[in-house]
Amino acid sequence: MIGRNDICWCGSGKKWKQCHFPANGEQQPVKFENLHSLYFKKHDIIIKSEKQIAGIRASGHLAAKILDKTCELAKEGVTTQELNDFAHQLHLEAGAIPAPLHYGEPPFPKSICTSINEVICHGIPSPRKLVNGDIINIDVTCILNGYYGDCSRMVMIGEVNAERRLVVDVAYECLMQSISPLKPGIAVSHIGDIIENYAVSKGCSVVNQFVGHGVGVEFHEGPQIPHNKNKLNIILIPGMTFTIEPMINAGVRGATIDPNDQWTARTSDGRASAQWEHTILINDTGYEILTPWKCS
Ligand code: MF3
Ligand code: CO
Ligand code: CO
Repeated sequence: MIGRNDICWCGSGKKWKQCHFPANGEQQPVKFENLHSLYFKKHDIIIKSEKQIAGIRASGHLAAKILDKTCELAKEGVTTQELNDFAHQLHLEAGAIPAPLHYGEPPFPKSICTSINEVICHGIPSPRKLVNGDIINIDVTCILNGYYGDCSRMVMIGEVNAERRLVVDVAYECLMQSISPLKPGIAVSHIGDIIENYAVSKGCSVVNQFVGHGVGVEFHEGPQIPHNKNKLNIILIPGMTFTIEPMINAGVRGATIDPNDQWTARTSDGRASAQWEHTILINDTGYEILTPWKCS
């Protein structure tokens, strides 16, 4: 629950007890309907109803299950196209649609993203076989009954060198550490502070060209969730659903988009990159992970 001393949701920067606290005689208690329309008008944020939350939870749980099964298949000698086809089939069997397929401009050509080694994100499945020493991010977003769940994980193939292991571990810690304090009253900017502080302390950099995002009713909703230090003074309130998906580089933070496919984002210096992603719900007391993948 938002505490009296937490920052007010309204963006004033004041403590809640000195701002929109319901017991403050000068202020009328804020009606939820007003707050929700304010968030939509000001930040493009859709505060979800109980029914929408149930739908996003079901979609998120399915995405996590498809992701875990696809990660189990990721072994030396398997192609990323095979991972794609396997995940695509699991979507169909569950009555779901893979959200990436035909998404965006130019239309994304496959059903999942597979990003290997120096690829930061949006890697396109291909006949490329996984080889010993690769690290791969697999990103699954499914649409189930119209609701979106979005998550990704890393898999290490065989013996992985120290730099690649480092980014995999640092990106995981960045995701988990940035989730742990989430509750109503916390500012969105807190997420980027935690991630960048930790990554820099380990000698890594944080990609700033791609961000987390509101998700659930659409694939990409407001707000943007930067993984870098920022001044985004949006206060978390119950019913927000969004992703955190830090992309951590061993070298410079810059990304270069492949001019041929216009999707594949690689590190500018060719060094390793890693990413993990969850869809999160802010509830009355804290948060719920809506994409509970299992990390082995
Ligand atoms: N799932 C990715 C994300 O985390 C987006 C992929 S867009 C696609 O936001 F078109 F490449 F699939
Ligand atoms: Co996402
Ligand atoms: Co994703």
